[in-house]
Amino acid sequence: MKDFPLIFERSHPGRRGVRVPSSADVPQKPLSELVPSDLLRQEPAELPELGELDVIRHFTNLSQRNYGIDTGFYPLGSCTMKYNPRLNEEAASNPKFTQMHPLQPDRTAQGCLRVMHDLQTWMAEITGFDAATLQPPAGASGELLCLLMIRAYHESRGEGEQRTVVLVPDSAHGTNPASAARAGYKVESVRTAPDGGCDLEDLKAKTGPHVAAMMLTNPTTLGLFEKNTVEMNQILHEAGVQVFCDGANMNALVGIARPGDMGFDCMHLNLHKTFSTPHGGGGPGCGCVGVKSHLEPFLPTPVLVQEGDEYRWDYRRPHSIGRVHGFHGNFLMNVRAWAYVMAYGREGLPEIAKHAVLNANYVLARIREAFPPAYDRVCMHECVVTATPLKKFGVRALDVSKRLIDYGFHPPTNYFPLIVPEALMIEPTETESKETLDAFCEALLSIAKEAETEPELLKRAPTRAPVGRLDEAWAARNLDVRWMPERRVPAEVSS
Ligand SMILES: Cc1ncc(COP(=O)(O)O)c(C=O)c1O
Repeated sequence: MKDFPLIFERSHPGRRGVRVPSSADVPQKPLSELVPSDLLRQEPAELPELGELDVIRHFTNLSQRNYGIDTGFYPLGSCTMKYNPRLNEEAASNPKFTQMHPLQPDRTAQGCLRVMHDLQTWMAEITGFDAATLQPPAGASGELLCLLMIRAYHESRGEGEQRTVVLVPDSAHGTNPASAARAGYKVESVRTAPDGGCDLEDLKAKTGPHVAAMMLTNPTTLGLFEKNTVEMNQILHEAGVQVFCDGANMNALVGIARPGDMGFDCMHLNLHKTFSTPHGGGGPGCGCVGVKSHLEPFLPTPVLVQEGDEYRWDYRRPHSIGRVHGFHGNFLMNVRAWAYVMAYGREGLPEIAKHAVLNANYVLARIREAFPPAYDRVCMHECVVTATPLKKFGVRALDVSKRLIDYGFHPPTNYFPLIVPEALMIEPTETESKETLDAFCEALLSIAKEAETEPELLKRAPTRAPVGRLDEAWAARNLDVRWMPERRVPAEVSS
């Protein structure tokens, strides 16, 4: 950003934030007495030198260029960018939690263990499973854990060698096939039927004794309830296949329906979606996993157990697949989710899902003339629409999204699911008011008109953001995040 120098570029030799008074009574020692002289650097580190106020202004201004859920509407489909209630933050900043150490003896950490035990019990209850773990740090990590447990299960029955394939719908999130491949499986894709559900004939044709698992997202990534879930799970179970539920979309079902009751064997939840803990650059999050009792022996160690009034970590799990994260996952995320569930309670949780579904259907009803739904059904917590009607003006989904930035909105998810041409996946979440939804819909409708009258404007967008349209492919392939004194950025990517 030309108008926003890096902190290194603001540096002036000799500037300091804090100077220790010369009268300080801390005895000074030569560095060579503290660090062996052969390990001492010969040149000082090339760090920025600034006054305290310069640093404060630099980072405060930088933070104000960030767009987040606290600054505006963030309808990023599949990501459930819901508001993170401040109550959660209050709980998670309690020093009684923040000052704990994961290696403390169990008896000195009973309060923390209680929070984790409550949460894993509630997550199992909400999803309809027999047990849960909070160890995975993200959704994809939860997916991988489920596949590793499924593999261990098949191995325990002498079927590990023969079951080499994982079935994944063609509409699935990219992490599903990636997790299956990471777990050593071959991935086979199952077609979507014309109504947006899974094609049962294709599923039957691909199911057999060579299949280890199916990964099914419900509600699907098309924002639709998979009506054939129970039948699909029956077909798969008859062939000895284990069924994993990708629970990234649980915000549409929380408190209303339980994947465990639909016949799934295991599932992951993203606490940073349904249970409102913050999303942060890929983590730290919690990809809580629930399992039916036949998979319980394979849960990662240590397993948190309650004996009477006491909680303790159980390491004696001979069939466990081992650990998937250091210590016990991201504990403070658990505190936030615990506070969230406590705040809503049994009566409040279904309201979350109802409002999420209502808001998505409201948006769909308002914009469908300009942006038709990919599959014309009542949607769940998100709607997938297509920008194909604008193609005749040379305008694509990406142009619509970039123009939304000029209107002050974060764009929806683009080009996902892959099977929908010019896809725009909009997830408003339950926390947005009607006024915000209306303003967003008006912006989209107005952009659709601009596409007809001023398509060039959309091609140039965003025009009001600190940076214009970047060459994203160039940036991804030539990632350069390290400052060098002689750094050169080509003119075409810095504008
Ligand atoms: C449907 C679906 N599955 C899995 C994931 C992966 O979750 P995470 O980003 O927490 O790894 C996502 C993430 O957005 C998702 O939308």
